[in-house]
Amino acid sequence: MAEEVKRSIESLPGVGEATAEKLREAGYRTIESIAVASVAELHEAAEIGEGQVKKIIAAAREIAEFGIFVTADKVLERREKIGLITTSSEQLDTLLGGGVETQAVTEVFGEFGSGKTQLAHQLCVNVQLPREQGGLGAKAIYIDTENTFRPERIRDMAVGLNLDPMKILQNVLYIRSYNTDQQILIAEKAEEKIEEENVLLMVIDSLTSHFRAEYVGRGALATRQQKLNRHLLTLHRIADLHDLAIFVTNQVMARPDIFFGDPTRPIGGHVLAHSATTRVYFRKSKGGKRIARIFDSPNLPEAEAVFAITGQGIRD
Ligand SMILES: Nc1ncnc2c1ncn2[C@@H]1O[C@H](COP(=O)(O)OP(=O)(O)OP(=O)(O)O)[C@@H](O)[C@H]1O
Ligand SMILES: [Mg+2]
Repeated sequence: MAEEVKRSIESLPGVGEATAEKLREAGYRTIESIAVASVAELHEAAEIGEGQVKKIIAAAREIAEFGIFVTADKVLERREKIGLITTSSEQLDTLLGGGVETQAVTEVFGEFGSGKTQLAHQLCVNVQLPREQGGLGAKAIYIDTENTFRPERIRDMAVGLNLDPMKILQNVLYIRSYNTDQQILIAEKAEEKIEEENVLLMVIDSLTSHFRAEYVGRGALATRQQKLNRHLLTLHRIADLHDLAIFVTNQVMARPDIFFGDPTRPIGGHVLAHSATTRVYFRKSKGGKRIARIFDSPNLPEAEAVFAITGQGIRD
């Protein structure tokens, strides 16, 4: 599997250097992303003839080995390996079915100041806890798109849990991303780090801000969605392949019925909906309290939890 992941798109018949470059520019960097693309999509994005596109997709589908059946007991066996990271709030953990899961992408969406970034920080600390304390004894990767990462908060949260702040800080691998292309590339490159080091949490804060900024207006929505689709596909693959928890944030307006600002084409909406994903909605409440609510989970009931943000981190 790991070998297959690294195989470059040049290994596809009919994909020379120039074509590969075009494909990459259009955001198709892996064989999997080509295997799931439609002929029209690829034809338009990479300016390659339809005949050639069909051949490339067919070859990608062969190599990507999609559609292999496994028996349900194997699925169960894999699901039993799912790890959980505590949020430091019992209520929030309960809402999430024990904490933030590995082998899945967890998305928190909500208005500004609702606590998305705070929880992202908290998870970077908590993933380092031993398993008996709600962690995974592992490191975290933090991909920051908004320049809101604050090591001081990591330090305070570590102190809040009686942990050595220096050690905790050293186990958070930080990287800033400035645009969508970089974000996509960083996520792919992160795979190497994940293999080298004991990383079991990857944060992207925020998943969508660059996509929003770069693809403005109705005409750009389809392109934005396609590109985000491919990015998400990568994230899901990494989560699955490496038993990793992926935690992403997504800022939305205060109105919970319009999740992503544009009611006709919700950014990430249907893409996230059919994968192994938990979506949580955060909102601010009275007295500094925060309310979390589960959306569209394949295995969790729709419910709410109340939590607080303190100097030492997330608490009940
Ligand atoms: N040291 C602290 N002590 C107590 N509360 C804090 C502390 N730092 C941040 N907060 C709380 O966290 C809030 C900010 O939350 P956070 O940055 O997680 O929001 P967000 O959901 O990521 O917002 P945005 O969409 O703007 O990124 C502050 O408004 C404050 O209430
Ligand atoms: Mg934030």
